[in-house]
Amino acid sequence: MALIFAARLLLLLASTVTAVLLPSQDVFYTQPANISSYNPGDVINTRSIPTNLNGLLAGGPSPSIKAAYQYLYRTTDSLGNPVAAVTTLLVPHGADPSKLLAYQTAYDSANNDCSPSYALQAGANTSATSDIIFITAALDQGWYVLSPDYEGLNAHYTSGLISGYATLDSVRAAFKQTAASGLSTSAKYAMWGYSGGSLASEWAAELQPSYAPELKFQGAALGGLIPNVQNVLSTINKGPFAGLAFSGIYGLSKAYPELAAFLDANLVPSKKDQFYSTANGCLSQASSQGAFQDLYSYFTTGKAAFSQPVPQSVLSKTGIMGTHGVPSIPFFVYKAVADEVSPSNDTDSLVKTLCSRGTSIEYHKDVIGEHITEAITGSANALAWISDRLEGKAVSTGCTTEVVALTSVDLESVEQLGGELVALLQDLLGGRLGPAFSG
Ligand SMILES: *[C@@H]1O[C@H](CO)[C@@H](O)[C@H](O)[C@H]1NC(C)=O
Ligand SMILES: *[C@@H]1O[C@H](CO)[C@@H](O)[C@H](O)[C@H]1NC(C)=O
Ligand SMILES: *[C@@H]1O[C@H](CO)[C@@H](O)[C@H](O)[C@H]1NC(C)=O
Repeated sequence: MALIFAARLLLLLASTVTAVLLPSQDVFYTQPANISSYNPGDVINTRSIPTNLNGLLAGGPSPSIKAAYQYLYRTTDSLGNPVAAVTTLLVPHGADPSKLLAYQTAYDSANNDCSPSYALQAGANTSATSDIIFITAALDQGWYVLSPDYEGLNAHYTSGLISGYATLDSVRAAFKQTAASGLSTSAKYAMWGYSGGSLASEWAAELQPSYAPELKFQGAALGGLIPNVQNVLSTINKGPFAGLAFSGIYGLSKAYPELAAFLDANLVPSKKDQFYSTANGCLSQASSQGAFQDLYSYFTTGKAAFSQPVPQSVLSKTGIMGTHGVPSIPFFVYKAVADEVSPSNDTDSLVKTLCSRGTSIEYHKDVIGEHITEAITGSANALAWISDRLEGKAVSTGCTTEVVALTSVDLESVEQLGGELVALLQDLLGGRLGPAFSG
């Protein structure tokens, strides 16, 4: 009797105190040996997870989630090899099965333990990012929300190719699991992402015609675009966002073995440990450790290291937008003119190039914001634009550029974000923003 009681107690304890395993310790994140037997977008493994979005924002709104699924699926890495990745599908109560948003978060880390599939699980030890607000707003519209770990299981942060492929295959995977999730097989779908999330989304749009021609997105909303990774490195170096440069170059080195060897040979030996410690952190840790650091001082040849053939070839293969295809879906692009992470002239130039090739783009240049505030202020218009696309409203073809300011945010769009969210946004804009909210 006592034995049975003890066994029951143990079971009870096991089910109540189980901590969420980090991806590095969780067997779900295991790439099968026969990965090459799967086609891109095939689902290898599935599970349901408890979520706890409300825990991420003290005092903030909590979306009512009916179910959440995670899929281990087959995608393709930057070298063209078959690899696995994980994505999370969130289903709100009262969901509209005809609408799906592929929301790429700005998790901005070269460490898989910092992936959204971990952060979205109840009990995860993680800090909030502004992405949670926009995911919540989307769930409150009744949309299914899909959020992939688009860097793959090895966290190839800033590598455009794998980020695009994994974003596309995540959508394919979601449409292979509709029997369980209730998503309509004819659902309309669109992409949204800011900063690191816009990197994945834009690359997905460029690669879609060649890699996933059967996918028919209604459009993509892209904020704080990162058209050129190298220009970001030099822009953020020695500034508050310098930590992203460490993670970015490390992420690329995980995608390209020749760059890993280059780092090994070119980092200042006495500074190597510090480099990898900063580079391997989650966004908040890398941001705080790397802030105001001079990335180039970690290389024996300083800034010149980045002009060498190895980094140049990697950056040109997987770090420059507008070089891998013409997006066939309409874009809503929002960018602060004073963006201090990715210079806005790079986005001007990308928009011009893609427009000249036939992509339809509505481009909002915000004269008031900078990189962090734009994520918040641009979001109301982005959400409204996506809502129109998911409703199937016609989008005007061709390109328009509008110079906007915070005050011109459409009141109706702001209301669509929901009262609680608006209050939260105002609170964030009122000075509580820190590096952890960057992207
Ligand atoms: C891969 O291997 C697993 C385990 O042996 C097997 O169950 C699965 O069917 C295989 N997948 C494919 C696509 O061959
Ligand atoms: C949560 O993460 C922080 C920062 O990485 C760490 O210091 C802390 O020990 C972690 N707590 C738990 C319970 O794992
Ligand atoms: C934007 O300006 C920076 C700094 O002047 C320059 O390095 C970069 O090449 C420019 N980008 C484009 C696309 O002209």
